[in-house]
Amino acid sequence: MDYTTQIAAAKEKFGKLLEEQLKRVEEMKAQGDFVDYAALPTIKIGVCGGDGIGPAITAQAQRILEYLLADEVKSGKVEFKVIDGLTIERRVAENAAIPADVLEELKACDVILKGPTTTPRKGDPWPNVESANVAMRKALDLFANVRPVRIPEQGIDWTFYRENTEGAYAVGSKGVHVTEDLGVDFTVVTSQGCERIIRAAFEYAKANKKTRVTAVTKANIIKTTDGKFLDTFREIAKEYPDITADDWYIDIMTAKLIDEKRRRDFQVLVLPNLYGDIITDEAAEFQGGVGTAGSANIGKKYAMFEAIHGSAPRMVTEGRDKYADPCSVIRAGAMLLAHIGYTEQADKLYKALDICTITEKKYVVTGRDTGVTSAEFADYIMDTIAKCC
Ligand code: IPM
Ligand code: MG
Repeated sequence: MDYTTQIAAAKEKFGKLLEEQLKRVEEMKAQGDFVDYAALPTIKIGVCGGDGIGPAITAQAQRILEYLLADEVKSGKVEFKVIDGLTIERRVAENAAIPADVLEELKACDVILKGPTTTPRKGDPWPNVESANVAMRKALDLFANVRPVRIPEQGIDWTFYRENTEGAYAVGSKGVHVTEDLGVDFTVVTSQGCERIIRAAFEYAKANKKTRVTAVTKANIIKTTDGKFLDTFREIAKEYPDITADDWYIDIMTAKLIDEKRRRDFQVLVLPNLYGDIITDEAAEFQGGVGTAGSANIGKKYAMFEAIHGSAPRMVTEGRDKYADPCSVIRAGAMLLAHIGYTEQADKLYKALDICTITEKKYVVTGRDTGVTSAEFADYIMDTIAKCC
C-alpha cells in the first residue's frame, strides 16, 4: 500500500496545529500579571446561565450575590450583567462553541458566574459542537481549574490545581484520521503553560499555610509532555523551600485517594488537564458527588466560576426547572466572592451553605414539588446569613 497522499495530508494538518500552538506560546509570553480587582473602578460580574436548568439556578445564585454585595452595587464598585444566549440551540444554529456576540459580552466582564451548558454526545439530536466550557477556558485563557474538596469529619482538605488549557484538551477536537484504520490525537505541553499552573499551586499553598504540594503525572510513560510538567514542577519547587514537594503517578494516586490512612495527608495537588478532570470527579464523590462541588477557572485577566453538573434538559421539558438544586452554582458564587476579594461575604455564604445543606436542613430541594423551589432555597440561605452568619 502506498500512503504518501494520506501522510502528506496528515502532515499538513499537524503543521497547522503546531503553528496555532506556537502562536499561543507567544501570547502567553506577552501576558501581564493577575488583575488587581481592588484597583478596578468597577468589577463587572457576568451572569451566564447557560442552558437547561442553568438560567433558573444561576438567577438564584445572582440574587444571593446581590444581597451580599448590596453596598458595593450601590456604590458602583460592583456591577452585574446577565448574559443570555449560551444555549445549545443557538450554538447549533451558529455552529459555534460560543456564539460571537456572547463571547464579546463575556469579554466585557471581569469575572463570570456560569451555569451548566450542554455538551452534545454521540447519539444526541445535536451535531457535535465543541464543549462551551472547554471553549470558554481557551478563549479567556482560564488556565487554572481550582477544585477544592473538603470533608472535615474525615480530615480531608484537598485543593486540586488542574491545568485547564493544555494537555489532551488543547487540540482535543483536532486529532487526525490518517487513514480509515489509523487515528492520532495529540497532547500538548508548553513551558509557559506548566510554569503558570505550578506556580499558582505553590502560591496558593504559601498564602494558605499549606505545607505540601503534590504533582501527579504519568511521566514514566508519557515522557515528553508529562516529563516536562514534572521537570518544571521540580524546578519551581526549589523556590519554595518551606513546602514539601513530592510527585506521584496518576494510577497510584487514584488508589491512594481511597486509602483512608494516607489520603488525608494530601493538601494541594497540581496536575495536567486530563488527569485533573478524572481525579476531581473521584475526589468530589467522597464529598457527596460532583453536584456538591464548585469549580473556579482562573486566568490572569478573566476568571469564571461554574456549577459542575449537567444542564438536565429533561427537568425543563417536564416543567421542573424551578425545583432544580441551585447549591453547586451558589457554591461557585462563594468562590467568586473570595476570588475578587470579598472573603468576609464568601465565608458567610460557605457557612450558610453548610447550615442549610448539612446541619440544619430545614428545607430541601428534591428536584420535584416534594421539595422547595430553587427560589425558596435561596431565600432560606439569605435568611440564614441574616440570622447566624
Ligand atoms: C469538567 C467537565 C468538562 C471537562 C466537560 C463537560 C467538557 O467534565 O469540567 O470537569 O471535561 O473538562
Ligand atoms: Mg470532568
